[in-house]
Formats: sequence, C-alpha cells, structure tokens
Amino acid sequence: MRFETAVAKHQEFAQDVWAKLTRKLPGSLQKATKLSYIPYTTCQNEWKPAPFDGICWWTNGFWPAEMWQMYLHTGMEAYRAEAERVEDMLDEAFDEFDHLHHDVGFMWLISAGVNYRLTGNDQSRKRVLKAANLLAGRFNPNGFIRAWNEDKHGWAIIDCMMNLNLLYWASEHTGDPRFRQIAMAHADTAMKHFVREDGSVEHIVCFDPENGEVLEKLAGQGYAQGSAWSRGQAWGLYGFVLSYLHTGKAEYLQTAEKIAAFFVENVKRTGVPLCDFRQPEDDLFDACAGAIAACGLIELSRITEDEGWLDAAVDMLKAMEARCADWSLEEPAVLQNCTGSYSGNDHHITMVYADFFFVEAMAKLSGEKLRFW
Ligand code: GLY
Repeated sequence: MRFETAVAKHQEFAQDVWAKLTRKLPGSLQKATKLSYIPYTTCQNEWKPAPFDGICWWTNGFWPAEMWQMYLHTGMEAYRAEAERVEDMLDEAFDEFDHLHHDVGFMWLISAGVNYRLTGNDQSRKRVLKAANLLAGRFNPNGFIRAWNEDKHGWAIIDCMMNLNLLYWASEHTGDPRFRQIAMAHADTAMKHFVREDGSVEHIVCFDPENGEVLEKLAGQGYAQGSAWSRGQAWGLYGFVLSYLHTGKAEYLQTAEKIAAFFVENVKRTGVPLCDFRQPEDDLFDACAGAIAACGLIELSRITEDEGWLDAAVDMLKAMEARCADWSLEEPAVLQNCTGSYSGNDHHITMVYADFFFVEAMAKLSGEKLRFW
C-alpha cells in the first residue's frame, strides 16, 4: 500500500499527540530559556544538565533540534529563537574541544544543520562543516570511525551510525566525496562486525587500531556480552535506513530490515522496549529506544511501502504515549521511562533525545516538512 494511504489511517492518533505537545511544550521552553545550560534530563519538574562533559555533552544538539521541530509544526517564533540561542551556546564546545568525540553529528547536524537548510544562515553552515571535519578526522583507515576519547583508540560503537548523516550531508553540500567515502567505509564495517546473524547488533566493537583486527566485543550500555541493548538496536536500525537513503546501497536497506525484524519481534511482548531485549527481568524499559526505532520503522515503511513497519511503529508509539508520557504542564519532559545504561544508576529517567525522536516520529506521521538527518 502507498505510504501516504497507510499513514492516513493514523492521523487521529497523530493529531491527538500534536495537540498535547503544543499545549505542553511552551512551558518546557519557558523553563529552558532561563538556563545557562542545555536541558538533558529533569528532576522535580525542572530541567537538569548532563552530569558529564559540560557544553561538549553529546546530547546538546537535541534540545535545539526539538525546538526546530516545534517551530516547523507551529510556526511559533519563540521555538526558533530558542533553537538559535542554544546553537550559539554550542560554539563554546568547539573551543573546549577535548570532550568532543564521534557524536558531533548529534550536536550540529540537527541544530546548525537544520538552521542552515531552513534559513541559509552562513554561520550555521560553517558550524556543520567544522563538525563534519572533526568527525572525518576520527576515521581510522582500517575502516571505522573511532568512538570516545582517552585510550580507546580502536573502539567503535553502533550509535555512530547516526552520526554518518553529518558526513553524507558534507559531501552532498560540498561535492567532495571524501566525507561520504568515510561514512560508507564505517557503515560497511558495521554491517560486517556489528550486525549478528539474527538481526541483533553489538554495542561496542574494539578493533586493533593498527591493523583493524577485531579484538573484543563489549556489552557497553546493554545487559551483557552477546545481549541486545535496545537503544543500540534502534541506532543501528535508523542509522542503516538513513545510510540507504543517502547512498542507495541496497545492502544498507537489507541490513536495516534485518535489524527491524529483530526489533519488532522483540518489542511485541512488552509494547515499550525493555532496556535490553535479553535482560533477565521485565524491570527496566527504554522509551527512548522506542522513539528512535519508530522513526526508523516509519522511514522503512515509506521506502518499502510495507505497511507492517508503519503499524509496528505506531503500536510502539501508542504504547509509549499511554504508559510513559507525562502531559502535565509542570514537568518539562514528555517521555518518562528511559534508561541511560543497564548497569548504571540512570534508570527511569527522562532524556531530551527521547523527546526529540518522539516529536520527530510525530512529524513523520504528519507529513514531515524537513528530514533532519
Ligand atoms: N551512547 C549513546 C546512547 O546513550 O544512546
């Protein structure tokens, strides 16, 4: 069935959520504009910053990106002003530099990158290109983009699939193929070494940085080695869909479908994704994984015209809306039931990027005006 026909069936749900978002988010925005930091989570109905990395914290592009989504939906200038205010704040991260890593795509593609594409702001264009050059500089010629800093010279993580979009944009914008070549080399490595036979994915693969040999695979933010951290599955799913959209390489689409099939099969029982699909108890959920995966599934449905992916996305979004959304006007964040990592103490929290992807999913259900990635 054509995507437009299939998605039309879900308009009542989408309109209902948009009505709730447009009622709630002006208050969230008002609380944020008074802050000297960028919202990450919430506590006692107030925004809180991330505990690490200050202005370089990897999620700092999601709040301005959520503001751009709200601006596009409502036309309300206050959202745009907030997105631009925070984009300016992020310049300090380029100066601080030491804590920046592979997540510069999350920080600048969906903040400055969106600004540039909407307004032509030249300062924004330079910010995105600067970020793309930083990301390209992390490429190891053995075929992967290095993840974090310190002594982790050969570590790569599945999350980075989403940052490749910054590189695709840089090649599309400049005409210089090097950025896309680096992105595709990384995606090819991820297909080979992260994606398992059953469609689940690794979080961390440690390569020998000298010769690219695989040394070790680690659970990272998931339950255990060999388990299936749901947000990692979601990063892989949406990341491969987007790599396919930027390159047309059929294997990326096949890989995305394989991960999607694993995700959909495993989320069926609980509706909202568990933090790890192989954790022993049903005690820890991650609504954020559901929001990211929903975006990937909706795009997959648009590409393949397979309505099943769309229905799976909407089922999950409905479960999250019913069980995880806080629509009160006091609490700034929407999705409440997110998990930072299985072994950490950041359980049952809100996360600004969960809300961003939830809003993005709603935009995709309602005729998305701009694909942010
Ligand atoms: N490592 C990024 C995330 O928490 O999803």
